[in-house]
Amino acid sequence: MKEKILSAKIKIYAWEELSNEDKRLVEEAKNASKKAYAPYSHFQVGAAVLLESGKLLSGSNQENGAYTAGLCAERTVLNYATAQYPNDPVVAISIVASDHLGNWTAQPCTPCGECRQVLKEVELRGQKPLRILMIGENEIWEAEGIETLLPLGFELNK
Ligand code: THU
Repeated sequence: MKEKILSAKIKIYAWEELSNEDKRLVEEAKNASKKAYAPYSHFQVGAAVLLESGKLLSGSNQENGAYTAGLCAERTVLNYATAQYPNDPVVAISIVASDHLGNWTAQPCTPCGECRQVLKEVELRGQKPLRILMIGENEIWEAEGIETLLPLGFELNK
């Protein structure tokens, strides 16, 4: 028997330490979270992506009375980005969440498992590392690519 140790590194930032470009990406996600349709969970998530061209896009979670038909903020914006700009790689995403009163989560909001799988494929398509900024009230976590959040993720025909 052999063992393999998988390790993951994230960087932790305070708001003031972010670049202006990243601050803008976070602001876009915060604005998007206000447009969430979350009447069931009251958990409003916003996500914003930066494309290699410099374009910024954003999305929010869109719930449905048939619960499983709802979609996370990350997949809302990622699917839009790749549908509209298939040849413009997604190079960064920021994710933020609040309750319905607008209180940001204390802990950085991390993407769910399904969104991680989609992030993996979007990163593969773009052939560029896709930085993931996860925003909390007091600190911001950065993963330099999806491998950090989804080690040994599924890849068809690998
Ligand atoms: N949600 C997201 O939009 N992104 C995540 O990464 C986790 C969860 C949404 C789905 C649902 O509308 C609400 O948050 C509560 O789970």
